[in-house]
This record gives sequence, structure tokens and C-alpha cells, in this order.
Amino acid sequence: MTYTSSTVRVPDVSAVPRHIAIIMDGNGRWATQRRLPRVAGHTRGLDAVRSAVDACARRGVEYLTLFAFSSENWRRPVDEVSFLMRLFVTALEREIGKLHANGIRLRVVGDLSMFDKKIQDLITRAETKTAKNTRLTLTIAANYGGRWDIMQATRKLVEESVAAGSPVEVNENAFAQHLAMAYAPEPDLFIRTGGEQRISNFLLWQLAYTEFYFTDTYWPDFDADALGRAIASYTERERRFGRTSAQLEPQSQNADSLPC
Ligand code: FPP
Repeated sequence: MTYTSSTVRVPDVSAVPRHIAIIMDGNGRWATQRRLPRVAGHTRGLDAVRSAVDACARRGVEYLTLFAFSSENWRRPVDEVSFLMRLFVTALEREIGKLHANGIRLRVVGDLSMFDKKIQDLITRAETKTAKNTRLTLTIAANYGGRWDIMQATRKLVEESVAAGSPVEVNENAFAQHLAMAYAPEPDLFIRTGGEQRISNFLLWQLAYTEFYFTDTYWPDFDADALGRAIASYTERERRFGRTSAQLEPQSQNADSLPC
């Protein structure tokens, strides 16, 4: 699909969110509450990832994006970072066959140059194997940061201009084609578990008109029912994209283009 900016054109809205983006927070506190090492929370967090992927595929969600490792997570203790890397590799190796069998396309976005060559190769193989699947696109954001994404898109526009010998046209749609997730529509629903209410440098550009849902539930406890509650909350929202409620009446639906 071609990325269309929600601030340029009002997107179609469906009862089930097409794209859900999640900050999976609270693994460490889940473990600490149980007197377990923090990393035990990440292991259980992976079970919750499986459950979320399964629930989204069943409900007809087209894109699920998970913030697995932020560009700021390198600041964590070395042992925890190493554990997360190993967990990522194990998950890629063990789950890719199942994802493929279930029609799920895997994409990994972020500054992957920071990862070991082994991890980079695994990612390439997993993406290639599942590239043609259409049921659900699962995106793992790894060493991702919203500011990094905006900067790398800007750099590509500059490079295009240099190659062309004159500045290329810069507008929202042209810019967004260079974002790491240009293949996906903007998220309809953003979920953050674990009680904090912030974006933490996630999809800064794409969350402009996304509906936010915060829950105190720690990520390892976020099951299919919890996802159902988040989707139910989304379904009740009125998404106006800058318009008034009256404009959402059926007779006004065709007036959906905004001036640039
Ligand atoms: C945030 O909880 C979680 C992370 C930084 C890592 C997320 C990783 C997983 C859910 C498992 C692996 C996932 C994949 C896709 C392979 P936190 O550690 O910040 O928890 P806290 O706020 O309670 O300390």
C-alpha cells in the first residue's frame, strides 16, 4: 500500500482497528512482584507476544507493531540487554515457521546496523520467508526510535536531492514514503501497558491521529481478553480527524479531503 498521511486525507475508519501499535511495558515489575529476576518478566512477555499476535490475527487486525527494544534501551544493565538479544534470536529461530504457517508477514524496523551480523541475517531470512503473507503484518520495532526514523527519512530526501541535482519536492506524503514503516497505514490504536502514560520516542510521526489506550496491566498479563477491552474502548471512540461531530453524519461523509 502507499502511505497516506492522516493530516492530508482523512483515512477510512473501520470497527476493528486496521493497525495496532503497542508499547509492551511492565515486564520487570511483573517479575519483581513475584520475587523473580527482571528477565523472567521478558520471558513471560514473549508468551504475551504470541497471544497478542494470535488474537489480532483472529480479529482481523491487519498490522500489529510491537516496540521490543528502543534506541534508549541500550542504557539498561549489560546483562539485561544481552538477555533481550538472546530472547529475540530464540524467538526468531523458533517462531518463524509458525508465523509463516499462519499467514503472518514479519517485518523488523529500526537501526539494525547496531545488531550482530547473526541477528541481521536471521531478520533478513525471516522477512524474506514471510514476505508474501497477507493475513497480518507483524512489525517488531528493534533499536527503533521515532526521532531516528524522522532523521533517516530526512537523510534519504536530502540524498535524493543531491542525486537529482536540485531539491526534490517535500510534502507529507513524499516524506512519509521514506519512514521505516511506509508499508503500513498509520496506527488506529496505540496501547501502552504497565501504567505509564507516554510515547517514549515510539512512532512519533505516525501517531498524529491515533487513539491512545493506557492500562495498568503489566505486559505479561496482557491476554486476549485485555486486548479485547482495548479494542472495545477504541470502537466507542469518535474519530473526527479535526472535523466536528456533525460532519460525521452520513450525508457529510464524502467531504473527506482536507486542504494541504
Ligand atoms: C518493557 O518492560 C519491555 C521491554 C523493554 C522488552 C520487551 C520484550 C518482550 C516483551 C519480549 C521479547 C519480545 C520479542 C518480540 C522477541 P520493562 O522491562 O521496561 O518493565 P518495567 O517497566 O516493569 O521495568
